[in-house]
Amino acid sequence: MPDLVAHGLLAGLDEIAGTGRDHRAGGYSRHLWQGAELELRAWFTERAERMGLDVETDRNGNTWAWWGTPGPDAVVVGSHLDSVPGGGAYDGPLGVVSALDAVAGLQAAGFVPTRPCAVLVFAEEEGSRFGVACLGSRLLSGAIDADTARSLTDRTGITLAEAAATAGLNPAHLGRDQQALDRIGIFLELHVEQGRGLIDLGEPLAVASSILAHGRWRLSFTGQGNHAGATLMTDRRDPMVAAAHAIVSVQEAALASPGSRATVGRIEAVPGGTNVIPSAVHAWLDARAETDAQARAVVADITARVQAPHAGCSATVVEESWTSTVTFDPGLAARLALALGGIPALPTGAGHDAGVLASALPTAMLFVRNPTGISHSPEEFATLADCLAGVEALDTLLRELL
Ligand code: GLV
Ligand code: MN
Ligand code: MN
Repeated sequence: MPDLVAHGLLAGLDEIAGTGRDHRAGGYSRHLWQGAELELRAWFTERAERMGLDVETDRNGNTWAWWGTPGPDAVVVGSHLDSVPGGGAYDGPLGVVSALDAVAGLQAAGFVPTRPCAVLVFAEEEGSRFGVACLGSRLLSGAIDADTARSLTDRTGITLAEAAATAGLNPAHLGRDQQALDRIGIFLELHVEQGRGLIDLGEPLAVASSILAHGRWRLSFTGQGNHAGATLMTDRRDPMVAAAHAIVSVQEAALASPGSRATVGRIEAVPGGTNVIPSAVHAWLDARAETDAQARAVVADITARVQAPHAGCSATVVEESWTSTVTFDPGLAARLALALGGIPALPTGAGHDAGVLASALPTAMLFVRNPTGISHSPEEFATLADCLAGVEALDTLLRELL
């Protein structure tokens, strides 16, 4: 084992610590093809090129750094650099930085791979700009139709096709990329754990066993826009009141289905003025459960509750994305866990690009303990010792797989 610390391990996290800080929300806001995310891509390219890797961006905006000739049967290691609004420092970047460090360690040790290897940065994993999580891996694998993707819009009405063109991609070329997929033999993603599994086990690392079924739905409430002062309370059709009632029912539906989770984390009033009764309110639902059937049943329950007339308003529920329960390749997970001395396997409630790719090719994940148990928040954390254990684990796995 090379002296990992001597190779400047995890310095990458420090190098990007000032990029995309969100001074209003706290933490980081790094969104697809916007200032901070573009700076992170440039940082990744510069760092990978300094290591002698060949960097390319595929037709869906995912960035690959190749150690040796690209594919086939490559071992690809990576994660993402974008964040949720006000996200933590580790969700995504820890996997990218650890992958670069593991490759750098192997290079420094004079290790000669017998298979191609790449570090991969996926585009828009969080779906924070265009609403669909894991957009880069969905496009790459064909899990989202290219026309649907092209017409997604951000909060200012810019379409994905327009944004892709501005970022230098050809929007006509978005979509399943068989050639790029065919290069991957195994995909491995290291990620900070986003719950308390490793805290409870008292372990620094785990392999992933499964991901909850999950999806996103837009709940839209329509009423009558009007004057906040001149309209009697009894004369109103206020969609904010309908939305508030519906959001309480989202919590009730999830509590009635133990183990499921349902969240409304984003709401938008139209037009959105303090002295204006909105004409419409949009709210976004994130719902998850262990099985597809349970998740679907919770959403059906929520839909019935949301669509029950309230405050004289009408409501619609539109599915924006869906991912079935993912079970990671059990043979691969067991092999990797054994190679790492018998580390535990953990399920997760968080979505990942590795989960999207799992239906197309062998994929595995490594989780690094998060002592706060909190994620998608500035309080997300991982100790240096646990991060180093993660890089050492990648080093071990790459030696085993390459
Ligand atoms: C991604 O982190 C998600 O699970 O929403
Ligand atoms: Mn995340
Ligand atoms: Mn992530």
